[in-house]
Amino acid sequence: MRNVKNRYLILHKNFPVASVILDEDYDIEKIEKIHSKERLPVGLFLKQISVKNLNGWLFGRAIPQKRNGLKQILEATKTRSNQELLIKNLGLGLTDCYWIKPENASLSWDEINFFQNIFSKDVEKIYLRESSDDGNIDLINNISPSNVSSGMLPKGWICRKNKRYMIKGSELENYQEPYNEVIISRWLDVLGIDHVDYWLKYIDKKPYSVCENMLIPGEELISAYYISNIIKKDNKDSFLDHYIKCCKELGLNDSIRQDLDNMILIDYISANTDRHWSNFGVIRDSDTLRAKKLAPIYDNGASMFAKIHYFDIKEINNNLKCQSFNSKQEENIKLVTNFSLLGNQAVISICDTAMEEFNKNKYMDENRKREIVLRIKQRITMAGKKLRKKAK
Ligand SMILES: Nc1ncnc2c1ncn2[C@@H]1O[C@H](COP(=O)(O)OP(=O)(O)OP(=O)(O)O)[C@@H](O)[C@H]1O
Ligand SMILES: [Mg+2]
Repeated sequence: MRNVKNRYLILHKNFPVASVILDEDYDIEKIEKIHSKERLPVGLFLKQISVKNLNGWLFGRAIPQKRNGLKQILEATKTRSNQELLIKNLGLGLTDCYWIKPENASLSWDEINFFQNIFSKDVEKIYLRESSDDGNIDLINNISPSNVSSGMLPKGWICRKNKRYMIKGSELENYQEPYNEVIISRWLDVLGIDHVDYWLKYIDKKPYSVCENMLIPGEELISAYYISNIIKKDNKDSFLDHYIKCCKELGLNDSIRQDLDNMILIDYISANTDRHWSNFGVIRDSDTLRAKKLAPIYDNGASMFAKIHYFDIKEINNNLKCQSFNSKQEENIKLVTNFSLLGNQAVISICDTAMEEFNKNKYMDENRKREIVLRIKQRITMAGKKLRKKAK
């Protein structure tokens, strides 16, 4: 029998979900007991619950190993790995209601969850920089959702009064991502499409995007990746059809097709190549466990050719990759059945909004700005052509 200090309990709010044993590297070594099948993470029902997939789910919530700045966060928090950091932070984040504690610890969800309890707002020294010169965090007294946050960009959560905000940086020398977040956010505002609102914040003269938590207490975000595992995909279904079927299993209705059509069109026009299956999802009620709605559109940072040199944009524009329902944008757009969004006169406003915001970015080259706006305009025409072809 192993030392009891390695026994942990995974919980959903105050409901025990699974007792597990962790090894020295904080990997799950054994699942001792499932306490609640109903509250297992969505998408783990079908895939016979195994050590491998429970481990994948648990640490999929951790800061990715390849995120810039992880090394410094580990140094500041005196932890050896993103896994240790997640466990010492009790697995608590701000996107769902799961957490993990040593089996004997007497802690309750109400006293520790970050939706309702405050946490340190000191993110700038550790989480947003790639240095930890003056960073030193005593994790026992300073757990934070910034320690349990997925995604590749440097980011940190802060709390002000009753609100929680995520501040997110950039991986690029020209800092294009935060500006992209703002541009797409303003554009979706005008188009009347449900989205997370982003605005800019400068820290030490460097740009970051800020957004409020899309969830309120009692809600949680489930990524499309896990939603799509709820039922087995029928070979004759497209990935879009399959995803809609899965959402319906969770309680949503057919009207989501229109929202997903819009998401595909938005990604097509804005040249978003990063709509992978953790960049869209469903918000569910964490009490009834039923889905409430599709998550508003979020994470548009890697749109508008952000990672492509402007010399290459023209050529790549006809063959852009995609990570949602197809591997190519040109194939993805063929799934759209309702193109009504394109009838909205405000679609073209993305071009002026982009130029206006890019002009605030002193790190961005003039030629690059012009090329991007030109090619986005071209994409609107290309989308219109697809529509006419389909209407024939
Ligand atoms: N406004 C929000 N409210 C709650 N959770 C959020 C919010 N924005 C993002 N998240 C969660 O945080 C994760 C990381 O955020 P985001 O996708 O914006 O970061 P990223 O680093 O740009 O990701 P990627 O690696 O996909 O580029 C998301 O996948 C989502 O689970
Ligand atoms: Mg993301």
